[in-house]
Amino acid sequence: VKRFEELFTLTPERLKHITDRFVTVLKDGLDAPGKTVPMLPAYVFGWPTGNEEGRVQPPALSYLALDLGGTNLRVCHVVLKGKGKFEITQTKFRLTDEQKQMDGQKLFDFCAECLHTFINDHFGGGEGEEPILEEDIALGFTFSYPMEQDAIDHGKLVRWTKGFGNPNTEGKDCAAMFRKSLESQKVPIKMTSIINDTTGTLIASNYVKQDTKIACIFGTGCNAAYMEHIKNIPKIGHYNLPGDEDMAINCEYGAFDSFEHKHMAEIRTKYDEHIDLHSNKPHEQSYEKMIAGLYLGEIFRLCLCDLIDEGTLFLGQNTYKLEKTNVFDTAFMSLILVDPTDELLTCAGLFLHFFGLETTQEERNFFKKLAYMIGLRAARLSACGIAALVTKMGYLEEGCGVGADGSLYSKFPKFPENLHKALEDIFGEKGKGIVTHQAEDGSGVGSAIIAAMTLKRKEEGK
Ligand code: BG6
Ligand code: GLC
Repeated sequence: VKRFEELFTLTPERLKHITDRFVTVLKDGLDAPGKTVPMLPAYVFGWPTGNEEGRVQPPALSYLALDLGGTNLRVCHVVLKGKGKFEITQTKFRLTDEQKQMDGQKLFDFCAECLHTFINDHFGGGEGEEPILEEDIALGFTFSYPMEQDAIDHGKLVRWTKGFGNPNTEGKDCAAMFRKSLESQKVPIKMTSIINDTTGTLIASNYVKQDTKIACIFGTGCNAAYMEHIKNIPKIGHYNLPGDEDMAINCEYGAFDSFEHKHMAEIRTKYDEHIDLHSNKPHEQSYEKMIAGLYLGEIFRLCLCDLIDEGTLFLGQNTYKLEKTNVFDTAFMSLILVDPTDELLTCAGLFLHFFGLETTQEERNFFKKLAYMIGLRAARLSACGIAALVTKMGYLEEGCGVGADGSLYSKFPKFPENLHKALEDIFGEKGKGIVTHQAEDGSGVGSAIIAAMTLKRKEEGK
């Protein structure tokens, strides 16, 4: 336990140090294009009023949203009712590992097919009839990867993250690719916006809770968005945008410390290195790889593999099942941590069922401590990104709300508590004023509100 404690413990001083470096990196990303943390303008201008109700002509009040990039591919139908109220109907589709690597256009074809299925299931007009949907219903596409945008309905993929590797997609306008799929799959829906999940979460959370100034995702990946004054984004000066307005920025800060790994060199463990080098994108998304749900289970597994090699764990048993890359889901760590029994029977059952391994009480006690340490490091590191945004924007004095979503935030035991404690370690008492809260559904509700805001701007001739 001691040995892993040394590897995974982050002191308050260390957190402050990382936060300082983070602030500089965020500013760099706004100054010039193509930086490691790219601080991508999202073309969502200002906060929602909370009274977005859809388009002007009734009864066109609802929106469709398609969400690609989290645990599931989701299709949602959202009705905005104004005053922070909404109704949502949704269907989830699970992507296979093959679909994450097949040709990009085929992936978008699959998304279009899912949308078609959803429309037929929920709004089908019966055999041989046209679906009953509002004419001209708008579709928002939440595509949660780094995109360079110069408008709300264009988005050039900078690079895949989170294990996706579909060829013929990076560097291309994914909005155009998705539109092509909608046409080829004969889905008669107009896509009006393409957004990141953090941007959607920012807008959806502010819609219901107006002190929300930052939104984060701690799920398969990790990232944040916030609202920036356009005059403080030097790199887009030449686009002739109104300097007195604000625009959402998708930070893509999962990329912090990528490539040279100089900002967190002191705390990068051999397990982080291993995961990085064996991923489909070595040296990219370094911060994310130490925090996000896609990777924590693998860090845990690599620690166990080390102890197996040293002859410390599972003596006399065949451990081959546990020695395969990525077989230990982060959700297993959560299960171990919430095991209610003194004997840790859930943990025992898990190792037996999935890996054919008997465990001793001592081993199970150790697993619980190790899972806690890895989760604690993730939560404490997560606080550095938030703290950097708070510092950069000067939100500490007044405090602010931070909308947060994703499987890690909502399901990993003690993640929010540990994150808050780390914010206090960084900021002292004042850190208590930075309060994260479970966000509203960013890619469903957020996307619908953004569609409404975009249509309103168009009607105003902006
Ligand atoms: C969802 C949000 O709840 O969380 C999505 O609505 C987001 O927009 C997702 O992508 C991220 O979490 P995970 O755990 O699915 O990666
Ligand atoms: C990855 C993506 C980013 C997304 C985040 C959370 O970091 O690059 O776009 O917001 O995961 O889903």
